[in-house]
Amino acid sequence: MTRDPMPNAFRPGAVDLPPAEADLVARRQAALGPAYRLFYQRPLHLVRGEGVWLYDAEGRAYLDTYNNVASVGHCHPRVVAAMAGQAAQLASHTRYLHDGVLTLAERLLATLPAAIGHMMFTCTGSEANDLALRIARAATGGTGIIVTENAYHGVTASVAEFSPSLGAGVPLGAHVRTVPPPDPRRLGADAAAGFAAAVQGAIDDLRRHGIKPAVLIVDTVFSSDGVFAAPDLLAGAVAAIRAAGGLFIADEVQPGFGRLGQGMWGFARHGVVPDMVSMGKPMGNGYPVAGLALRPEVIAEFGAHARYFNTFGGNAVAAATALAVLDVIADEDLIANAARTGALFAEGLRDLASRHPIMGDLRAQGLFLGQDILTPDGAPDAQTCAVLVNGLRDEGVLISATGPAGHVLKIRPPLTFSADNVAFFLDRLTRVLKRLP
Ligand SMILES: Cc1ncc(COP(=O)(O)O)c(C=O)c1O
Repeated sequence: MTRDPMPNAFRPGAVDLPPAEADLVARRQAALGPAYRLFYQRPLHLVRGEGVWLYDAEGRAYLDTYNNVASVGHCHPRVVAAMAGQAAQLASHTRYLHDGVLTLAERLLATLPAAIGHMMFTCTGSEANDLALRIARAATGGTGIIVTENAYHGVTASVAEFSPSLGAGVPLGAHVRTVPPPDPRRLGADAAAGFAAAVQGAIDDLRRHGIKPAVLIVDTVFSSDGVFAAPDLLAGAVAAIRAAGGLFIADEVQPGFGRLGQGMWGFARHGVVPDMVSMGKPMGNGYPVAGLALRPEVIAEFGAHARYFNTFGGNAVAAATALAVLDVIADEDLIANAARTGALFAEGLRDLASRHPIMGDLRAQGLFLGQDILTPDGAPDAQTCAVLVNGLRDEGVLISATGPAGHVLKIRPPLTFSADNVAFFLDRLTRVLKRLP
């Protein structure tokens, strides 16, 4: 199946742009080439961010309900001060002794189950998943990988091979099998059992083809599959991959760092302890810092034969920045805020849905919400979803769409989002809904 993985993307020539934006678009195409995409039919030229707000070149404010990188708020002064302070003192890598990276590792490990004893640092989530795969291959002797049907795990050559949401232009590896996400509409009321059975089926198929399973890797809130936020979905699937000699990797790049309003990590809601946990995006609130937490026994084989060095991963500035993010999450009580404001948000969307039947199922946990947009006869409606995304952009609210059909509004604001911000969002969404034919 060929599909555009970004149905909301700007298409050159589709709309008339003011001269300044048209010039930037032309320069961008000339300098960056054809593989990049821009959000929105009318692209945004952002110049500044503060808290939950982003500002364009004309000074117009946009409420950010999508950007899960700046998760403690854009340009948080404490994070910026920590980053700048360390950059002014020493910016170096992990081949010298330095307290920062060790304190960061210890602080992160303290948030994880006791069985997870080591932290390794990278610059991006893609690199963390790539490293996880190398370690898993060494630990298991296998190569087979199981992912969900519309998963996204990153951009390196080996990780793109198990990121089906990149679309038909990026073929999956012959050693990769996909399973449906734990969607009760597809797998039955007991989605956990259905998911475990699907993973077992994938294991059996790998073996039939002579491929030894190495990993099951899932985003623990199934973001790109359309957001599946129910708890207790993974135990059976994790047991199945372990029984087959493989490992379970929790990809926390999207749900991690408190977004779900229940502890720091999405996997904990499923009652499982992963073999490895990859993390990134919100970890540095905009600074590129990511990492991999793992059980010591998993890295024993790899560590005996390979050495690991990543020039920028875990550098002193990255460590200072990520430590400041952890401090802000704790000191501003952001996990509790994600739970409280997320519940308000979900209530407001359900109320709106009672008056607008195109708003179908809502799946929400903390400040991660997925709202289905449907045709009058209940089918996924990517076209109307794109109209909402672009209409909200024109109303000063930034959002995007997700899911295999692109019909799920993906709502993922900074963890500092307030009740007033929710009211603003709902007001603007109401306006856009009223304008629909
Ligand atoms: C679930 C998930 N894993 C991994 C990645 C890759 O992270 P990065 O873009 O930092 O390489 C992403 C990025 O969107 C992601 O959403």
